[in-house]
Amino acid sequence: MTHFKQVALSHASRLINHGPTVLVTSAHGTARNIMAAAWSMPVEFTPPRIAIVIDKKTYTRELIAASGGFGVCIPCTTLAGLTHAVGSESGRTVDKFLHYGLKARIGPVLGMPLLEEGCAAWLECRLISEPHTEDAYDTCFAEVVAAAADERVFQNGHWRFTEDNVDLQTIHHLGGGNFVRPAGMFHAGDAAAKKP
Ligand SMILES: Cc1cc2nc3c(=O)[nH]c(=O)nc-3n(C[C@H](O)[C@H](O)[C@H](O)COP(=O)(O)O)c2cc1C
Repeated sequence: MTHFKQVALSHASRLINHGPTVLVTSAHGTARNIMAAAWSMPVEFTPPRIAIVIDKKTYTRELIAASGGFGVCIPCTTLAGLTHAVGSESGRTVDKFLHYGLKARIGPVLGMPLLEEGCAAWLECRLISEPHTEDAYDTCFAEVVAAAADERVFQNGHWRFTEDNVDLQTIHHLGGGNFVRPAGMFHAGDAAAKKP
C-alpha cells in the first residue's frame, strides 16, 4: 500500500526547500539510471522551477539531455546507504536499478522512473534547455511538472518531522558519507522573538 499523495505544484518547492540530499533518476529508451545529488534548490514560484547541480561528466546528465526530463526522489533515512552507493559509481558501468533491485513507478507526465519505497517524496521535472550554459556549467534548471509525497511525513503542504517518523525523515549530506536528519522541528511562534 502506498502512502504517497499528489502534492500541489504550488507546494512543490517545499519538498526541497530544506536542502535534502536527493536521488536523480533518468531514462531514455531502454536505459535507466540513478545518482545522488546534495545540491538542489527552488528558484522560481510559478511555474515551480528548481536548480540542481548535475556534473556534466555523469551518465545521468547524458540521459537527461537525451530525454529532456528527470526525477528527483527524496530518500528517507533508511536509504542513506543506497544514496551513498549510487552516488559513488556510474551507471555507465552498472545498471544501478537492477544491481540494487530498485522498483520504480513511471512518472505521470514525463514517464521518468520514480522511487516511492524508502523515499519521502518525488518530483518529476522537465529540463529547461539552456544551450548557452550547458557546456559550461554543471547546474541544470528544470520545471516541476508533477510531485507527490508520503502523507505520513508531508501533510497539507508542509513537512511534519516528529519523533514518531524518524525513519521517514529526509537526509542531509555533511560530506564524507555523513548525513544528518532534520530532527528538532519547531515553529517560529514557539521561540520568543528577542534581540540576540
Ligand atoms: C551524498 C552524495 C551527494 C552527491 N551530490 C552530487 C551533486 O549535488 N551533484 C553532482 O553532480 N554529483 C553529486 N554526487 C556525485 C554523483 O552522484 C556521482 O558522480 C554519480 O556516480 C554519478 O552517476 P552517473 O554517472 O551514473 O550519473 C554526489 C554523491 C554523493 C555520494
